Amino acid sequence: MKHKRQARYSRIRQQLKEILSKNDDLFSGMATINAILYHKMDGFFWVGFYLLKDGRLLVGPYQGPVACIELPGNKGVCWAGINGGVPVIVPDVHEYPGHIACDPRSKSEIVIPVRDRNNMVIGVLDIDSNVKDNFDYTDAQELERIVALLIE
Ligand code: SME
Repeated sequence: MKHKRQARYSRIRQQLKEILSKNDDLFSGMATINAILYHKMDGFFWVGFYLLKDGRLLVGPYQGPVACIELPGNKGVCWAGINGGVPVIVPDVHEYPGHIACDPRSKSEIVIPVRDRNNMVIGVLDIDSNVKDNFDYTDAQELERIVALLIE
């Protein structure tokens, strides 16, 4: 990962830490994470949360083009993040079996599981890029740290 991106994650994390420390509402926290990542990171074309509700996976707060409201059961990248409980990095969405295309401009994707205070997976942070191969392991680590701020 380029030094510039790492430095930007670091600044964003500090900013979010400060804002989220004064907030105890999950939805408001998610909306704020979206706004900051969407506007500050290069090639983050869609940033949002999909949240589990009664076994269904429904879109939550997001920024970017209009997206699928519900992701059909157990296929695609978001469900893989829910079922596996670990980040999923997809360098080329066209190569990912079962990928659900909400927007044809999306080329690469990363999904980070979101957990509640009991360590249960309650949804995912999903980021799409209009650039191929825009995410690596360091993005996964940095985004996991950012998502963890929701329950700190
Ligand atoms: N591509 C996702 C669907 C959500 S959109 O990218 C916003 C998936 O395969 O689960």
